[in-house]
Amino acid sequence: MSQRVYIFDTTLRDGEQVPGCQLTTEEKVVVAKQLELLGVDVIEAGFPLSSPGDFQSVVEISKAVREPTICALSRAVRGDIDVAADALKFARRGRIHTGIGSSDIHIQHKFNTTREKIIERAIDATKYARNLVDDVEFYCEDAGRADLVFLAQLVEAVIKAGATVVNIPDTTGYCLPEEYGEKIRYIFENVTNVHKATISIHCHNDLGLATANSLSGIREGARQVEVTMNGIGERAGNTSLEEVVMALQVHKELGLTTGIDSTKIYPTSQLVSKMMRMPIQANKAIVGRNAFAHSSGIHQDGFLKHSLNYEIMNPHDVGVDKSDILLTARSGRHALKHRMELLGFNYEQDALNEVYDRFLAVADVKKEVNDKDLVELAQAYAAA
Ligand code: KIV
Ligand code: ZN
Repeated sequence: MSQRVYIFDTTLRDGEQVPGCQLTTEEKVVVAKQLELLGVDVIEAGFPLSSPGDFQSVVEISKAVREPTICALSRAVRGDIDVAADALKFARRGRIHTGIGSSDIHIQHKFNTTREKIIERAIDATKYARNLVDDVEFYCEDAGRADLVFLAQLVEAVIKAGATVVNIPDTTGYCLPEEYGEKIRYIFENVTNVHKATISIHCHNDLGLATANSLSGIREGARQVEVTMNGIGERAGNTSLEEVVMALQVHKELGLTTGIDSTKIYPTSQLVSKMMRMPIQANKAIVGRNAFAHSSGIHQDGFLKHSLNYEIMNPHDVGVDKSDILLTARSGRHALKHRMELLGFNYEQDALNEVYDRFLAVADVKKEVNDKDLVELAQAYAAA
């Protein structure tokens, strides 16, 4: 039987921290409703203490969205936790996400304290939050660079204090996939009460490894993954929702499922990109303009013989209308013939050869040959 991986979306918190991506409360509600349609399990709606706007956004999202759990971020500070709980008062299911640095770098250079004091603060924050809400997630910030033995002690302590979910973030995107997977395995093997909480993973993309690291953590038993739409987020971004979801969907042999309706991925990606004024790179996996576009002659020929030759998923599965065959000077006769037939022009081999030569002449001048160019080409050929 397949196991469920819970999708925790932080587009509206970690994603929205990106300069230039800020949304109004109304805009955040629009995005949150789309995330609900997409089928995410948890929406991290903001950091209520950070600004009145963030507080209000958590309130309004809590009222507007009913299915996913609504999560509010806080530091391991009682005052923060009070504000987060207050912002969640209308949530049908509310979660406080509190936490503190866990690496020696953070402990010394950010908190100027000791490991022992960090554990004390973590226990206090978790217990305090658990008195206010039933669902408390604890983040061990910079776990990617934390000492493993200390990390395991911290995880054990916060689970004992009542954490329902423990997040092991690779805050700086430092880990390699094997290394991150080993961290998660170590936690499962060395934290005696680990079965009492869900282990969550939260990876940043500084080395372009966020998705690989997340999958590595999932394979070691983590059952919640923290992601953003289009991978937006601090610096090089967070793990992208669409990549993890489709990796699990394509690799059925892993026996892992999510609650995501994958056909809503592309529309959600477009909405987030437009509202956050964050363009998507053309070759972005799953949602980029070229993700289902074939441009070289060899690939086009193979794709036209059978889409499986060059596509590992059907574009419809992610809400993209169709694959694209881009006609350029790199295209072959097969692709040209196919497109001409769609436009109503059928050519035998000799005629096709002539039309193809004319096509190459146009393609050398224009980078991409569109349908209008092809119709003109066909008309010119007929008139010659
Ligand atoms: O990257 C990180 O460590 C975070 C935490 C606040 C969860 O975003
Ligand atoms: Zn983060």
